[in-house]
Amino acid sequence: MKQVSKIQSVVKIRKEAKKTGRIGFVPTMGAFHEGHLSLMRKAAAECDFVVVSLFVNPLQFGQKEDLTSYPRTLSKDRKKAASVGVDLLWTPTEAALYPDGFQTTIELGEISRCWEGASRPGHFQGVATIVAKLLQIVRPDRLYLGQKDYQQVCVIRRMITDLHFETNVRALPIMREKDGLAMSSRNRRLSADERAVAPILHQALRQAEKQVRHGERNAVTILQAVTETLKSIQRMTVEYVALCDPSSLEALDRLEKEGVLLVAVQLGPVRLIDNVLLKEKG
Ligand code: PAJ
Repeated sequence: MKQVSKIQSVVKIRKEAKKTGRIGFVPTMGAFHEGHLSLMRKAAAECDFVVVSLFVNPLQFGQKEDLTSYPRTLSKDRKKAASVGVDLLWTPTEAALYPDGFQTTIELGEISRCWEGASRPGHFQGVATIVAKLLQIVRPDRLYLGQKDYQQVCVIRRMITDLHFETNVRALPIMREKDGLAMSSRNRRLSADERAVAPILHQALRQAEKQVRHGERNAVTILQAVTETLKSIQRMTVEYVALCDPSSLEALDRLEKEGVLLVAVQLGPVRLIDNVLLKEKG
């Protein structure tokens, strides 16, 4: 595996790789866990050349979220990426991606304003802007994203369609700890007590799946049950629980065919998000 930081090096390597096959791309902010590695493995299985970018993007962090406390574990990350078949690890610098005078960003529509967007103003604009820049440089045939960040996938898909980027999005399932907690680099900031109650998110979502299996279709009933379960944990603050259309993310009154159930809570110092796709059948 090669590691480079210069944009020009990536462009050169990408042009060479393109001559012989398909390029897969996994954008990340590092602190790799099985969630990240599952995307890299899939990319390696489906593509001839796999590029992973590792960049903690300041543009997507709000004022209250501490950019400086985001975990940085480069030497471990390098070993992990190499072990799952990544060909190029790209670690760009902030100065190269946001040079003096930088002022162009992606303006998003409705899909970026609800749920996570409402809780974290400016977040998706920062995500879309960096992803557009990375795509422009890497020009991958396939872009690998995790469904853990469900709304992020929707926002990026919308941008790719609207701006005619030529890449196929592959959205892969959420990787979880044994007790069901969705893997996240932020989980390590939970205290032992907080960590012990965190799996309630997944349990609440599974409970909703079960309700749907038993015929429940009313959004209010489903959302109430999830909210009550989450509220049983005293130290947990529920930010939102939503049942929405899986592509537009508009809130649903009733579950017809398919819906996505999104949850976000604050637990101690950490915001946790999770989601599940609910289907009328199966
Ligand atoms: P980051 O949080 O590092 O995540 C990188 C990719 O890993 C994202 O597509 C995310 O959805 C996926 N991922 C994270 N946890 C996962 C899990 N438990 N299971 C499966 N996939 C998981 O998301 C970002 O970085 C940034 O916003 C980025 C897209 C890189 C733009 O800066």
